[in-house]
Parts: sequence; C-alpha cells; structure tokens
Amino acid sequence: MFAKFKKNQGDDSAKQPIIDRNKIPAHIAIIMDGNGRWANQRHLPRVAGHKEGMQTVKKIAIAASQLGVKVLSLYAFSTENWKRPADEVNYLMQLPVRFFQTFVPDLIKHNVRVSVMGDITKLPVATQKAVNDAIKDTSECNGMVLNFALNYGGRAEIVEAIQQLAQLVKDEQLKISQIDESTVAEHLMTNQLGEFEDPELIIRTSGEQRISNFMLWQLAYSEFVFVSEHWPDFNQQSLENAIIEYQGRHRRFGGLQN
Ligand code: FPP
Repeated sequence: MFAKFKKNQGDDSAKQPIIDRNKIPAHIAIIMDGNGRWANQRHLPRVAGHKEGMQTVKKIAIAASQLGVKVLSLYAFSTENWKRPADEVNYLMQLPVRFFQTFVPDLIKHNVRVSVMGDITKLPVATQKAVNDAIKDTSECNGMVLNFALNYGGRAEIVEAIQQLAQLVKDEQLKISQIDESTVAEHLMTNQLGEFEDPELIIRTSGEQRISNFMLWQLAYSEFVFVSEHWPDFNQQSLENAIIEYQGRHRRFGGLQN
C-alpha cells in the first residue's frame, strides 16, 4: 500500500503523508485524557483543564464532521469517574449543560446529531435535561453523530446486555442457541449507531496506553493511536495525523490479506 505524500515547503526531500479523504474511518472514538495534567503544568486548578477540554470537544467535533466522519464517540465521564473529589465531579456534571447551552446551534449548523451512551439517569437532573434537550434539538440532523459516553463503562454495558438476554431466555422469547455475536451487539448501547457501531479508530491522548473500560466489545478490531498531547492541546492537525497513521495501517481482521 502506498501512502500519498506532500512535499514540505522549501524542502523537496522531506515528504509528509497527507490524509486520504476517501479512507476516513467512519467511527472514531476518543479517550480524552490529560485535562488535569494540562492544568497542573500551568499551575491552574484541574477543572481549568476540563473547561479547556470542553473547547477542544467543540473544535474536534466540527473538524471530524468536516472530514466526513460518521460517528465521533467521546469518553466524557466513566462509571469510575465518580471516585474523584466531589468538587471535580460536580464541575464535570456542569460541563454538558454549558456545552449544549452554547453549542447546539453550531451543531445544528453542521448537521451534527447528538447521542449518548451510558446510564444518564444517575446524573444530576439539570445535566440529564441538557443532554436530552440536545438529543431532541438535533434529532433532525443527519450528518455526523456526536456520541457522548456519559456515566459509561464497557463492562457495565456488557453486564446490562447479558441481563437483557437472560430475561428474554427466561421469558422464552429467545433460545440460548440463538445467542450469537449479533444478538449481543443488538443489546449494547452502540446498537443505536446502526452499521457504525464499532469504531475503526480509537485515539487516546496524553501518552497513557490503556483502554480504561471503554467500548470493550466494540474495539475487537479497532486500530489504536496513542498521542502524547493532553486533550486541551489536541487540535485538527492532531486528528488528521491520527487518521493518517490509521490509513497507513494494514487491517487484516484475523485473515492474511485484504
Ligand atoms: C480525563 O482527564 C478527562 C475527563 C475525565 C473528563 C473529560 C471531559 C471533557 C474533556 C469535557 C467534556 C465535555 C463535554 C461537553 C461533556 P483527566 O482529568 O483524567 O486528566 P489527568 O489524567 O491529567 O488527571
């Protein structure tokens, strides 16, 4: 496979690969990490990192939609994030309110539809309302889906699917022998994403190389790109670089050639 290259200005020998707009991953999932460290480095409170991280969410959502991404999943709050100090949790719970209050018109302008995965019934009422209003207000948009993982955990998602399937078996609506990969996938929160349920590309910022309970089922054949920048420093160029790296990978899905 040959990557496309562009020449560096003034240096014909140095060539950088450029993004192939015909091979944009349909579903990109991002673990937005490093807000706290970004703030610490600037002697700011951790929440200042989350505030700046929210601005990055806006920029990256628009950039991804303009690149032709179909689904952008963002890990905004995990089932484990409740262990953080109450002040920080409270701040994180306010962020979707602030975000959607100011940003829904832009999302509509860019034809972006908001969706959520995770148990939002455990979030403060104002946060639930902001999220549900954004889902409703963007429901007519048929461009990119901006899918927020809020109070989401991959294991919890799988447990819930198992409970639903067990109930169907108990009620004699499903035979054990009928349970296969697609039956399981139908009971995961990503079922709402239809054909784009599995991310082709997962990006994690801030240099950590772990998955932290994110989309455990769906990542079976995802490509991983780990970048050193903290989430507030991640920008359109970083996104394009991650996509270029993805485009240079050889995905075989367990086979030999594709
Ligand atoms: C991880 O950084 C980040 C989070 C737990 C929160 C992510 C949330 C946002 C980027 C804003 C979300 C915006 C909306 C609209 C919901 P960290 O705090 O773990 O950073 P650290 O590892 O450096 O401490």
